[in-house]
Amino acid sequence: MGEDDTPLWSGRFDTPPAPEARALGRSLAFDVRLAPFDVEVSIAHAHTLRDAGLLSDEELRALTDALEEVGVEIADGTFAFSDADEDVHSAVERGVTDRLGELGAKLHAGRSRNDLVVTDLRLWCLAAARRIDALTTLLVRTLIDKARDHVETLMPGTTHGRNAQPVTLGHHLLAHAWALTRDLERSGQWAVRTRVSALGAGALATSTLALAPRAGPERHGLDGPFAASIDAISDRDFAQEFLAVAAILATHLSLLTAYLARLTDPALGWAELDEAYATGSSMMPQKRNPDTTELVRAKSARIAGDFATLGSVLRPLPLGYHRDLQEDKEPVFDAADTLELVLPALIGAVETVRFDAEAMRRALDDHGLYATDIAESLVAAGVPFRDAHRRTGELLKRTAAEKRSLGDLTDDEWAAFGLPNGRSFLDPDRSVRARAMQGGPSPDSVRDQIAAIDRLLADRSRT
Ligand code: ARG
Repeated sequence: MGEDDTPLWSGRFDTPPAPEARALGRSLAFDVRLAPFDVEVSIAHAHTLRDAGLLSDEELRALTDALEEVGVEIADGTFAFSDADEDVHSAVERGVTDRLGELGAKLHAGRSRNDLVVTDLRLWCLAAARRIDALTTLLVRTLIDKARDHVETLMPGTTHGRNAQPVTLGHHLLAHAWALTRDLERSGQWAVRTRVSALGAGALATSTLALAPRAGPERHGLDGPFAASIDAISDRDFAQEFLAVAAILATHLSLLTAYLARLTDPALGWAELDEAYATGSSMMPQKRNPDTTELVRAKSARIAGDFATLGSVLRPLPLGYHRDLQEDKEPVFDAADTLELVLPALIGAVETVRFDAEAMRRALDDHGLYATDIAESLVAAGVPFRDAHRRTGELLKRTAAEKRSLGDLTDDEWAAFGLPNGRSFLDPDRSVRARAMQGGPSPDSVRDQIAAIDRLLADRSRT
């Protein structure tokens, strides 16, 4: 705790803030996570001040050293925070001023916490997005590795959750991988819009100090300066969009858990979660519950909540900085933390899940799954699809009424139906292999898709 607990804006004030008002306004507990970026951006700002002739080279060096020291102390937990430190920005500036006296007091010229906090948060989000993208990429790789193992594994695909047509397990797994590649693409597009510095925008209207903010952004790893100062300090699009990208990714993770939960349901018995990703019951000794997938599902709701929270904070605000904007950070931090918690667990669960190809294959004995193939064979023989659909439906109705399946039909009955080789369509291998068009479930199509995702990931890692 420092000695002086006057806030850095206290000049105009006679009375210090009431303790409860101070407690309400203090964001240090959460925004301390911005410290490394606050230091980085402050160093870039010190360069801008030097370029404008407001600091000598020597002063710039001393400020840079002091800022770096403060950064190290905050990171290793030795920094002495003061009661007066409202937020990370005040703490860093005070830390520098405690070290350098008058020189430290020069740092805040031409800037405001309003432009500083936006720039810090943009950098924080960009770094978090890089970590989340790396995990997402790992999940995609895990899924395509599994898909590679199951290019030939046949299973019923569903609509409305009911078995519909034979597909390959590889095709199913890739459906999840494709969705995640779009999340990576979205994140990349978001990053291009986010790499903008607000530094130099000041409180709202830049400054009279003739700073040249153009050099600053490159120094702290951003592409360029803001276009207009009021927009720069008000704009939280990047934070909302970060949460939107996170929420869509979370939806995909939830979708993947729904898939795992269904396949590993013992009533179906098509797959088994590894014990390392299951949990026992405190009462029922026999249980192995899929807590991992359930928690991923619930956490994804939480990320959707973070997106909704930020939108609710922003929606009523007029243009310009309002203290409400301080509430932009926690939803962003929470969504990123949640994703960094959830993704590794899901990667592990997918990596270790064991599929029972035999059990899935047995489910393909239901001849109804080949009804579309039969109707389409009539189409290939020149029957209009609607007629083919009706005729096949009637055939199914008749066999069901006779308590028979399509497999019980004799060659004569097939001939009478107009499809002498009808029986040959009741074959999952044939059915899946016949769906060989691009993007289809056949083993060859799935191999092509795996190669396409591989290329996509390789291109991403080059950029
Ligand atoms: N802690 C503040 C925030 O996160 C920093 C900006 C404070 N600006 C101000 N005008 N009070 O928004």
